[in-house]
Amino acid sequence: MPAPTLRPTRRVKSPELLIAESGADLDGHGLKRTMGLFQLICFGVGAIVGTGIFVGLSDSVAQAGPAVVVSFILAAITCVFTAFAFAELGGAIPVSGSSYSFAYAGLGEGTAFLVGWCLLLEYGVSVSAVAVGWSQYVNELLGSLTGAQLPAALSAGPSDGGIVNLPAVIVIALASVLLVRGVRESARATATMAVLKLVVLVVFCAVGFSAFQDGNLTPFSPAGLGGIGAGTTAAFFSYIGFDAITTAGEEAKNPRRNIPIAILVCIGLVTLLYCAVALAAIGAIGGDEVGGRPAALSYVVNEVTGSSVGGGVIAFGAVVAIASVVLAVMYGQTRILMSMSRDGLIPRVFERVSPRTSTPVAGTLIVAIVFAIPAAFASLDSVVNLCTIGTLAVMAAVNIAVIALRRSEPGLARTFRVPLYPVVPLLGVGFCLYLMYETGWTTWIQFACFLAAGLLVYVLYGRRNSRLAARAAATATQAVADEVPQAV
Ligand code: ALA
Repeated sequence: MPAPTLRPTRRVKSPELLIAESGADLDGHGLKRTMGLFQLICFGVGAIVGTGIFVGLSDSVAQAGPAVVVSFILAAITCVFTAFAFAELGGAIPVSGSSYSFAYAGLGEGTAFLVGWCLLLEYGVSVSAVAVGWSQYVNELLGSLTGAQLPAALSAGPSDGGIVNLPAVIVIALASVLLVRGVRESARATATMAVLKLVVLVVFCAVGFSAFQDGNLTPFSPAGLGGIGAGTTAAFFSYIGFDAITTAGEEAKNPRRNIPIAILVCIGLVTLLYCAVALAAIGAIGGDEVGGRPAALSYVVNEVTGSSVGGGVIAFGAVVAIASVVLAVMYGQTRILMSMSRDGLIPRVFERVSPRTSTPVAGTLIVAIVFAIPAAFASLDSVVNLCTIGTLAVMAAVNIAVIALRRSEPGLARTFRVPLYPVVPLLGVGFCLYLMYETGWTTWIQFACFLAAGLLVYVLYGRRNSRLAARAAATATQAVADEVPQAV
């Protein structure tokens, strides 16, 4: 195994060491390689398409009007810049820690810990938020199938007028059972759900475009540039999750080739889909009707077809779509915690892989329990902005890591290279900072408190238990011991 690279003030891990430690190049060790290109793309679509388009579209339209299409494109551009960075690093360092591992190699241990900490916002908090969105659609579907819905007390948290959000807890429990059973089963379920939700959204577009009227797109940008900016921040949530593909680095077949392709295909595919869905919805009934409306896609179909059956089908699609986001995002979270645990920065329980299922059983169950709590009691709105700012901070760090690694590791085997370097990663950082600015100062204050808590955990636990530091110290001691006899 390569010797750890450790400088006195900045603990940096070499890409070779990251790969060697993960066992990524060894057969029959650690996680199983079961995911091909198609499964990776399905996994990406599974992680991306969910609450953002089914629930959040109406919020983005309320801000930007028909110009929400521009908002989607701007959000996609932000993601594409960063997707290039993820593609370069995911291909060069195919380990399950994703942005956390990239930051460890490029920016050092302290920054990597904070990136991992922010990933708790991107993955963990979004699991809770997405589960809450799922609960709303389950009730909608129950209503259209049986005419009866769960009482508010059992289907919403206290801030939404209920007591406990039972469906949100149930979807997290179901996802954790699948994840514990094995990645092959999870990937198969995710692939099926991803295909199903794409079909539902394509059918939605067909229905919407059948009633399309040009006049519904005017005025195109009722709130001007400010509306488009706010719409972009809202639309960004619908892209969160594309980087989850890089968390499958240790379970993907031929990861150096397939991970970069899967990321770029997913971003392109969902951008086309989101723009088509937005145009179909607004073109059919107008921006004022879509903006701010709950379950807007079901409403559009009901209006166009004049029957509630179509709306029920869309609600079913939303239930499937959002469940697959929970599954894919929980998967990503457990793999990142596994990498942090392997490095000694968090307790070892997260790195243990069951020999029977080849999955991190204990880590998965802990994640499920911890994120079921906010899912049971929180509201969707209260966490979306925090999730967005945390994700953008991670994305900015990954762009910076590309630049740092090009300088520190020029000879690293890269199967994909960010085009127009360094302009593209610098623009990636710029777009991320702009959207972070747009989230507003309340979110910034929450984010600063969250980062301060992370720093405290790192100083009190992670820094002291770092295996990189321990190994570097042992290597130094050994070097001194080896020199003593020669000196004598
Ligand atoms: N992009 C994910 C969703 O929209 C978080 O549900």
